[in-house]
Amino acid sequence: MTTSSAPGKIILCGEHAVVYGRPALAIPVTQVHADVQVSSRARAGIWIDAPDVNLHAELNTLASDHPIASVINNLFFLLHAVPFPNLEIKIDSTIPVASGLGSGAAVTVALTRALSSYLNHPLTDEEVNGFAYEIEKLYHGTPSGIDNTVVTYAKPVYFAKGQPIETFKVGALFTIVIADTGISAPTKESVGDVRKLWEADQKRWEKVFDEVADISFAARRVIEEGWITMLGVLMDENHALLQQMTVSSPELDRLVEVARKAGALGAKLSGGGRGGNLIALVDPKMAEDVSVSLKEAGAKNTIVTQVS
Ligand code: MEV
Repeated sequence: MTTSSAPGKIILCGEHAVVYGRPALAIPVTQVHADVQVSSRARAGIWIDAPDVNLHAELNTLASDHPIASVINNLFFLLHAVPFPNLEIKIDSTIPVASGLGSGAAVTVALTRALSSYLNHPLTDEEVNGFAYEIEKLYHGTPSGIDNTVVTYAKPVYFAKGQPIETFKVGALFTIVIADTGISAPTKESVGDVRKLWEADQKRWEKVFDEVADISFAARRVIEEGWITMLGVLMDENHALLQQMTVSSPELDRLVEVARKAGALGAKLSGGGRGGNLIALVDPKMAEDVSVSLKEAGAKNTIVTQVS
């Protein structure tokens, strides 16, 4: 039997602009994860159990564009594992789907690692990341690659498309409250809508993306220096630019305001937006208060994560 696990992720700043080559910062969130178990099967075929998405089926009964089928089929062809071995695959994930926490990327990465190890053909992180990016492209249109990268390396990343992957140091530990609006919102749609805006007025949006790039650049510096209060200010500024891109929503805006009023140093949506999760930077002593306020105001769940 082989097993593999991959974390969720949040984007600290730079989402959407990162699709247009600007830098963004993302960190893994280990409190949520996708776990995959691969074992041999006495009967012919590949049986998949993924209770979180209510999937209990033979691989050959799934549509060829089913995300899980596409990972398995493409990987087996890539690794020349034909004819396919008889397998049981169990996928468990605590990462909410379509919520900006990287659930798709985490399932792909964990599945790729578990299957390739099972086939005695373990892949390097670079190969896993490259493969996961190809899969992301099938489902998200024009992804930047930040989700698969942070999930594969499970480290904070300063990411710019086409550039070598950089990690960054954290000068002083900081605490983030992640709050789920409970509204699922596919990244593909918000990314597609931002593209329409950009196509209609490239000059305007390139300028907005440059402002986001300045924020990501400054955020990396303040994190490295441990100037946490300033990170909060940058997060607020980033949220305002995301509002301009039309990827926030009344619910996200309301909860961002609740977090700020409850004492957060800054708050913003995180990921594709329109729903999904927001993040609030807090003094560790305020984490519980901010969490409770967000839940009282309607957040479906909160996670407190420390970045060190
Ligand atoms: C999604 O986590 C981040 C986006 O910038 C899309 C992408 O980078 O592929 C919205």
